[in-house]
Amino acid sequence: MSLLKVNDLKVHYPILGGFFHTVIDHVRAVDGVSFELRPGETYGLVGESGCGKTTIGRAIIGLNKATSGEINFNGTDLTQLSRGQRRQYTKDIQMIFQDPYSSLNARKRVLDIVAEPIRNFERLSSEEERKRVQFVIERVGLNPEIIYKYPHEFSGGQRQRIGIARALMLNPKLIIADEPVSALDVSVQAQVLNFMQDIQKEFNLTYLFISHDLGIIRHMCDRMGIMYRGRFVEEGTSEDIYNEPQHIYTKRLIAAIPELETANRKEKTHIRNQIAEEYRQTKHQFFDKDGRVFSLKKISDTHSVAMQ
Ligand SMILES: Nc1ncnc2c1ncn2[C@@H]1O[C@H](COP(=O)(O)OP(=O)(O)OP(=O)(O)O)[C@@H](O)[C@H]1O
Ligand SMILES: [Mg+2]
Repeated sequence: MSLLKVNDLKVHYPILGGFFHTVIDHVRAVDGVSFELRPGETYGLVGESGCGKTTIGRAIIGLNKATSGEINFNGTDLTQLSRGQRRQYTKDIQMIFQDPYSSLNARKRVLDIVAEPIRNFERLSSEEERKRVQFVIERVGLNPEIIYKYPHEFSGGQRQRIGIARALMLNPKLIIADEPVSALDVSVQAQVLNFMQDIQKEFNLTYLFISHDLGIIRHMCDRMGIMYRGRFVEEGTSEDIYNEPQHIYTKRLIAAIPELETANRKEKTHIRNQIAEEYRQTKHQFFDKDGRVFSLKKISDTHSVAMQ
């Protein structure tokens, strides 16, 4: 049984133009994507800037309207619900954002920032509310005394922890983490990622983890979908993708991971050149004449590749 099942999701943004400011075309930000999340797993969405990762996350929590397709959460198609009906699901699905600097309201105290989601759903006394906030603040590894401080008094990593505490307030089942560490120093990134893995177990969370960084996705995710221009080029487990990549785009992404060991850099350059040559020769197997990605085909129980 899956917790979330996205079926042939499309999100097209209208492009306005011309003298009358009418719709002249559409950006096909997400153009026919299907995947499912099993309870407790971490599923990665990866691909270069602009490929549609955030748009998928926003469509799932209802910030973007789906143009077509289904988003089944626990058996209910969220795309068919009215705003009011959707509300109860917003409790179960929370999103954390890339930028811990702008995603927290600078004029509010931590207490009010973290308590805000629950104020929309439950009437707690201020005593109960403070206790609940201090509980989650402690869970994310911060001192419960900090709730009277303001966001500018914290480092980037601490702010992201506050953002995560806020997401945890309503006991969600699914957390969509959109580039949660890319604005942070590399030294802090690992801390935040490890702590996200800890709270996943503690709170029984399922993650949809969005990143353009294949190294981070590998560290965090059980399964993943590789995106290119609004579509999936490949889907599989970490092993499928990193050990047996099939799509030329996936191979290029993997070859582009920077090599930290100087000794291996020469070899890496060689691999990159090889992949560039392979791309020239096999491109037509993976992209149609308009450069569009084909539909996914299953090549094993866990592994699918977009091929002709
Ligand atoms: N509100 C909007 N109106 C029109 N086009 C949009 C809008 N939001 C996003 N787009 C376009 O949709 C496409 C997908 O954007 P999206 O933000 O989902 O990409 P992304 O994969 O999250 O990229 P990044 O890694 O840079 O965050 C892009 O081409 C973008 O320009
Ligand atoms: Mg994005």
